[in-house]
Amino acid sequence: MLLIKNGTIVTSTGTFRGNVYVENGRIHSVGETPDCPGSIETVDAAGKLILPGAIDGHTHIDMPLGKIHSSDSYLTGTRAALFGGTTTIVDYANQNKGESLLKTLDDWKKRAENEAVCDYGFHMTISDPEERFLDEIPALLDAGVSSLKCFFAYRGRLMISDDTFIRLMELSRKHGFLVNLHAENGDMVEDATRRLLSEGKTGPQFHPLAHPREAEVEAVGRAVRLAEKTGGNLNLVHITCEESVKLIAEGKKRGVSLFAETCPQYLVLTDAKYEIPGFEAAKWVLSPPLRKRHDQNALWEGLYDGTLDTVGTDHCPFFFNKQKTLGKEGFDQIPNGAPGIEDRLELLYHFGVGTGKISLSQWVDLCCTAPAKRYGLFPEKGDLVPGADADIVVFNPEKQHTISAGNRHMNVDYNAFEGISVTGRVEQVFLRGTPIIRNGNCSAEPGSGNYLLRQYKPETDK
Ligand code: URP
Ligand code: ZN
Ligand code: ZN
Repeated sequence: MLLIKNGTIVTSTGTFRGNVYVENGRIHSVGETPDCPGSIETVDAAGKLILPGAIDGHTHIDMPLGKIHSSDSYLTGTRAALFGGTTTIVDYANQNKGESLLKTLDDWKKRAENEAVCDYGFHMTISDPEERFLDEIPALLDAGVSSLKCFFAYRGRLMISDDTFIRLMELSRKHGFLVNLHAENGDMVEDATRRLLSEGKTGPQFHPLAHPREAEVEAVGRAVRLAEKTGGNLNLVHITCEESVKLIAEGKKRGVSLFAETCPQYLVLTDAKYEIPGFEAAKWVLSPPLRKRHDQNALWEGLYDGTLDTVGTDHCPFFFNKQKTLGKEGFDQIPNGAPGIEDRLELLYHFGVGTGKISLSQWVDLCCTAPAKRYGLFPEKGDLVPGADADIVVFNPEKQHTISAGNRHMNVDYNAFEGISVTGRVEQVFLRGTPIIRNGNCSAEPGSGNYLLRQYKPETDK
């Protein structure tokens, strides 16, 4: 039994002073404390915020990419997640061409099960949309995968045709699941990339020119229209541009079953990073790329007014020194992605709540409750209510610190937010009632994270 007392409880619907009482790994009561018989562990949260464990709906841990893998293992990646207050991730399992979706899920579960220290589920990335694989979707849903991902980008590798997208959207309506989309026009990206390289423009500085904003805006507009036409369930991930926010707002107004995510890197950093000379800019070679200040403002406004629903990290770390350097001769060979699984709650608190761009409750909704709903984990995850898993974060809203690779726990040799000073720090984390992060230490045993059976529940979106 556990009593976290005297804190400010923050949920997606309100903020109030009180206690959280936990029994058998679940929340027993919130607010008033019942009579607590027997031995009880007490945590004094005076002056602290108490919030639900955060949910990161967008991670790529130990992700194969050609001959390399993203650099976090399920142990190091999920441990870093816990240090950052994230108690559940939904990671991407990637289908190899010619391979069954169910086998892919099995393989990825095996890779995670002896290592993961936070709870986890998987989205399934479709790279081979043959009918025999799409026939597996009902069984995949039964196995707890309530969302697929597909790409309009990465021509020749992952890019799917409109035809296939329409088919997936129709299936999503029929069977009830979410289609996550990487919305960049792969032909536009490929065309710009070839042109830049042929002009000898090979450095990481040219990555954003190869991924022009028009490529995202075109893909977002097309996807929203196709979702509207088919009645499918669309989730646009890692949205970056002002025009995209507008298209999403218009689609939502028309009643399209549409959700959207952005990421801390697009809210906090700008394309000024690509002006850094030499190879340094490779640290921010991710797709879509970082954008302009006006895009940032539009994204924050979109989070505030509900156009954008969730903030995920798109955590996809590669070592700067031995992996990003694979693209020394050409930016198109730089492994795409950046680390961030540990930084999200604190960045959103500092740059969002701290500046008044979002409220405390919106912070919790964007990082905890809305992802739980969207990804079929609510109400067991993402909220502080009786009966929910006792995944709890104690957050110090006053603590100032500076983000640096040296004080983070991700297995990577740089931090995308290096040197940024923030106010607000994750201090204690509980997973299913067990204290896991305390005094800067993680006590979780490898493999103690649970695989979660997710279920698409459109009713929770209302
Ligand atoms: O550059 C990125 N975002 N890498 C991760 C894979 C993806 O497209 O989400
Ligand atoms: Zn993507
Ligand atoms: Zn991603």
